[in-house]
Amino acid sequence: MKQFPENFLWGASTSAFQVEGAYNEGGKGPATTDLGAHDPSIADNKVAADHYHHWKEDVDLMAELGLKVYRMGFAWSRIMPDTSGEPNPEGLAFYDQLIDYLLEKGIEPFVTLYHFECPQAAVDEFGGWLSRKMIDQYLRYAEVCFTHFKGRVKRWATVNEQLIATAAGILNGNQEKDPQKNLKNVYQMSYNVSLAEHKAISLLRNIDPTALIGPVCAIQVVYPQSSSSEDVLAAENAEELMEFYLLDMSVRGEYPPYVEHYLKTHDLFPETEPGDQDILKGSKPDFIGINYYFSICVREKVGPINYNQPPFWVSDAFDLCENPYLPKSEWMDRGIDPVGLHIGMRKVYNRYRLPMIVTENGLAWSETLGEDGKVHDPYRIDYLARHIQQLGIMLDEGLPVIGYCPWSFLDVVSSHQGFKKRYGLVYVDRTETDPKQCTRVKKDSFYWYQKVIREHGVPALQASQSNGNK
Ligand code: FCB
Repeated sequence: MKQFPENFLWGASTSAFQVEGAYNEGGKGPATTDLGAHDPSIADNKVAADHYHHWKEDVDLMAELGLKVYRMGFAWSRIMPDTSGEPNPEGLAFYDQLIDYLLEKGIEPFVTLYHFECPQAAVDEFGGWLSRKMIDQYLRYAEVCFTHFKGRVKRWATVNEQLIATAAGILNGNQEKDPQKNLKNVYQMSYNVSLAEHKAISLLRNIDPTALIGPVCAIQVVYPQSSSSEDVLAAENAEELMEFYLLDMSVRGEYPPYVEHYLKTHDLFPETEPGDQDILKGSKPDFIGINYYFSICVREKVGPINYNQPPFWVSDAFDLCENPYLPKSEWMDRGIDPVGLHIGMRKVYNRYRLPMIVTENGLAWSETLGEDGKVHDPYRIDYLARHIQQLGIMLDEGLPVIGYCPWSFLDVVSSHQGFKKRYGLVYVDRTETDPKQCTRVKKDSFYWYQKVIREHGVPALQASQSNGNK
């Protein structure tokens, strides 16, 4: 068994809007994630996993699990309910008790400032990230958080998955119907997010120079369908357009040449202002957060552009296709690919030379409580074990992987599938339409992960078994 370093950050992840609930309690302002066009038969985030009322019990479970770090989020509009720049004391008080209790239990809080929850007031008043006013809003929010939690939160994430945060109109208010204009908005919003991110990093250096900060990237591990040069180039194009365009902005403050050229020749290049270069080049993150669930496969683009898919796949530079080599499951239709994590993280390190922490990785499954009142999830144990094993290989190769936070600590609400799609180590007993008591039940994977943390690694031969330690 590969022994992980003593100081390896074994963690687990959630995001605020997917766990907290209490969407209109404690002075919280509305967020885009509260008001989405929801199908009433699917759970929304109004109650979610009711973490707002179960936070203490949840931290006790984290302590029982042995977590070293909890990768969580603040709900922006719980702290800044409107655009006035005035923080909400009740919102800060909620996070004070949570952070203080985590620290009391010896768990490091690792806080994401912006994980999809866009304050609705900013969207209504000036179009959210489409406007540069949003940069000031984000900066004021960051200033409040950095100052208030100074000395207690020592690791921050700027933005979770900028790719999705800017592409999903339901999360950011981009309602533009014309597909080309919609795409142009996506790139403008993304550019503004990059400016905000760099300004926030510079701000943290002033407020708390000992704290660490970095982006969380949904890495795209893209394989060519064949060894034809055209397919290989299409895979390169896809990685540049979906991953490195964002990470280059976060780390180097510039677009990769291919992406700059692509945006200019496709009339997608954002509006810039004099002085932006100084902002973008004025700071650098300390680490890169890695979100990874599966790899994708592409081939040379043939035929017209298909606009009927998420904006980041709308391109004349590649076409998505099936990968026949990977096992698939109900919610993982692109395939399960642990080696892809290794491939992806090696590329990230070779390009940026920064420490990396896995901020999300996990397996979705449709689960209900068994007749024995338990949840047996050998499929999840197998998935996590195989990905952790890849981290061991990376450490042997000399890649600076500092921690691992599976998604998710407990079952959370998924934006389109509610509680049908569960990722947690802890089961939340509720249905789509009935939140019941949201009772917590430890799954088999909870006990398995507890052992991994205690023993500093995954036993190689047990990788595909549930250990039945209940
Ligand atoms: C990622 C998100 C996270 C969660 C997982 C399943 O894209 O960061 O909030 O929904 O996917």
